[in-house]
Amino acid sequence: MSRLISIVIPTYNERDNIPVLLERLKRALNDRGIEYEVIIVDDNSPDGTAEVARQLSKVHPVKVVRRPGKLGLSSAVLDGVKVAEGEYIVVMDADLQHPPEVIPKMIEAAERGCDIVVASRYVPGGSVGNWSTVRKLISKGAILLAHILLPQSRNVKDPMSGFFLFRREVLEQARNLNPRGFKILLEILVKGRYSKVCEVPFKFGTRFKGESKLSSKEILNYVLHLLELSPSFIRFAIVGGTGTFVNLGVLSLCRYVIGLPHAVAAPIAIEASVINNFVLNDRWTFKHSRVGSWVTRLLKFHVSSAVGVLTQLAVSLGVYYEAGLHESVVAQIIGIIAGFVLNYLISRRFVWRER
Ligand code: GDD
Ligand code: MN
Repeated sequence: MSRLISIVIPTYNERDNIPVLLERLKRALNDRGIEYEVIIVDDNSPDGTAEVARQLSKVHPVKVVRRPGKLGLSSAVLDGVKVAEGEYIVVMDADLQHPPEVIPKMIEAAERGCDIVVASRYVPGGSVGNWSTVRKLISKGAILLAHILLPQSRNVKDPMSGFFLFRREVLEQARNLNPRGFKILLEILVKGRYSKVCEVPFKFGTRFKGESKLSSKEILNYVLHLLELSPSFIRFAIVGGTGTFVNLGVLSLCRYVIGLPHAVAAPIAIEASVINNFVLNDRWTFKHSRVGSWVTRLLKFHVSSAVGVLTQLAVSLGVYYEAGLHESVVAQIIGIIAGFVLNYLISRRFVWRER
């Protein structure tokens, strides 16, 4: 096989792992006649990881990308991919939790036609090693959430894996890749161009030296990240939920703090919720789909919200009186769903222009 394999390895304080890792890569690949290059993307690690890597580039096929400070795992991977020259790109951690010996199996899978090959802890033959029950539960919960929110992750048993291979074409045309966060594979599964994903098992080892950089802040970021990648109606619904709180909050403020009559307080509260929803949808739900001036979008959003409310009323009355379903709450809920769907469709098509 004469393909070049690029192995992108982000590092932050991994000095002691680099020599062992490079040795094992050499044994796993070179000895099988697999041509490869290693790209170490180091964020100016205080422990001098970059220096160690530079020294070892005399005896191993290593390129070192040095970044000025700790800019995050995903962006490190993307910066590494930019300089990768191989036909296949492998991403792995430096701490030997990802055994280099699995890479030949990943390449074999790619040669059989897989565009993305995930080294997986959750297919037969794989395992997470000696994790505590709590950590196992967190991991399973995170995967379940990904499967619910991201349809593209559903046929991957381990969409959180940080160890995977992809054909370079998968990312060549990808737009809006988010450089923040820990879960670059999710970005690739959602935004990449591919037809076949495969998984090969591996046993997640224990960290060789140094400590993990996965903090609770990263876990919160993870949930936000999932929402960013999920279909826009999920964010639209969440924004709608916040609008209800703003509506009721402003209503109480106007009524009980300022003392306005209900006839004045109610429209002010409704307008406040429409503005709240507009700002959140504009900056979050549809942030990649903004066209024209924000004033126009704001006016159009008022129209689509009004259509939503009128639909709600019409459907609720229709279900109650015409269809004869004499259950107020049920009729109202059906109305809310219908209004939501219409408001969403108009918003995504005419207020914003989601592709
Ligand atoms: N350049 C750079 N910049 N590298 C970083 C940064 C950063 O800000 N943060 C972490 N790294 C490097 C580490 O040095 C290591 O090589 C690799 O990224 C993974 O970091 P760890 O701290 O070892 O993460 P982990 O073991 O907790 O998480 C791994 O396993 C998870 C699955 O449980 C990662 O592979 C995750 O992506 C994966 O989801
Ligand atoms: Mn690790």
